[in-house]
Amino acid sequence: MSRIAVGSDHAGFALKQQLADVLRDLGHEVSDLGAHSADRVDYPDFGEAVGRAVAGGDADLGVCVCGSGLGIAMAANKVSGIRAAPVHDVVSAQLARQHNDANVLCLGERLIDPEVAVRAVTAWLDAEFEGGRHVGRVAKLDALGG
Ligand code: RB5
Repeated sequence: MSRIAVGSDHAGFALKQQLADVLRDLGHEVSDLGAHSADRVDYPDFGEAVGRAVAGGDADLGVCVCGSGLGIAMAANKVSGIRAAPVHDVVSAQLARQHNDANVLCLGERLIDPEVAVRAVTAWLDAEFEGGRHVGRVAKLDALGG
């Protein structure tokens, strides 16, 4: 089981709550870094918080949600050591782990069916980094910095 930091803005709040419940039911240790209501907030604050939790070792992995999954991924990716992948389906979620070793998964509540979102997150968690030819490429990503 993993320690998973979750975060969202107001536009991702409902899906973040749902995903946090699913992750807890699966036995993961979830830290909810907010938002804690659907009041309007700024997605960079929560992408940064999840990114810092993962990069700093307080969490193994992160799940971020905003309206599109894009802005919060941009924020998380500014944190050194974070490979945040915005995904919209199960296959891209699996590939994010298998090829890119994504340590933060980002979803867009306004764009994805909640049931697909749950399947995407579980597929990402169940997938494994394939290593091999991908190792050097991921190292180059990390060498780019935050
Ligand atoms: C908020 O309206 C929306 O812009 C935000 O959740 C996200 O989609 C940005 O990338």
